[in-house]
Amino acid sequence: MNIILLGAPGAGKGTQASKIKQRYNLLHISTGDIFRANIKKGTEIGKLAKSFMDAGKLVPDEVTCEIVRDRLTWDDVKGGYMLDGFPRNLFQAKELDKFAEIDLCLNIAVDEGLLTDRICGRRVCACGESYHVSTLNGVTTCAKCGGKLYQRADDNPETVKSRLDTYNTQTAPLIDYYMSQGKLKTVDGGTGAPDDIFAQIINILE
Ligand code: AP5
Repeated sequence: MNIILLGAPGAGKGTQASKIKQRYNLLHISTGDIFRANIKKGTEIGKLAKSFMDAGKLVPDEVTCEIVRDRLTWDDVKGGYMLDGFPRNLFQAKELDKFAEIDLCLNIAVDEGLLTDRICGRRVCACGESYHVSTLNGVTTCAKCGGKLYQRADDNPETVKSRLDTYNTQTAPLIDYYMSQGKLKTVDGGTGAPDDIFAQIINILE
């Protein structure tokens, strides 16, 4: 099964992707993670992406679409995958339709008022796990791998405002796009703990 995880910044896409991967063994492909890995390595893509990410804007479509198109040619996608953070506008969605078969778009809906606190309180680990300061009780290492937790460069109030604007103007229209294809399922991502949200997702997937 090939799934798109759709949702605003901080909606819980990464959190749920980790749970889906664990239970269903689906490959997790996050364009944000791909860009951050490129920034860390200092590649040309990373240098280009950084300026857009720091501003809370989308990395240009031609670069992003090519990365995903190429990634979906690898052998490991054959058992099914989740796209987290792609597509992010109508152009990307239409491009994706040309090179992938998507079965389901899981929309994680969260009231915008909750998102800034979720994002600015997020701490992440290089292994991909994500936490919130409110539940860490002062712990600064990852429960999964012991790695040191840190804050993402774009998780600050100014960039978050711009990321939310970008979501509302460019990404939210994808809800209608996938609804019109009969592929959209929405979960309430704002009520309850991550495991409660995951229970809704299990209901959909099973
Ligand atoms: P990306 O890395 O995709 O970030 P994002 O979409 O802004 O999403 P986040 O990672 O911030 O949030 P999330 O939904 O994964 O939430 P999480 O699970 O961590 O993109 C970053 C940038 O890269 C973009 O701005 C853009 O510049 C560029 N980019 C990426 N893709 C692109 C594309 N296709 N085209 C162009 N540019 C692209 O949860 C957040 C917090 O909430 C955590 O602390 C978590 O612990 C907590 N939390 C989760 N669930 C709950 C819950 N139920 N209750 C309470 N807290 C919760």
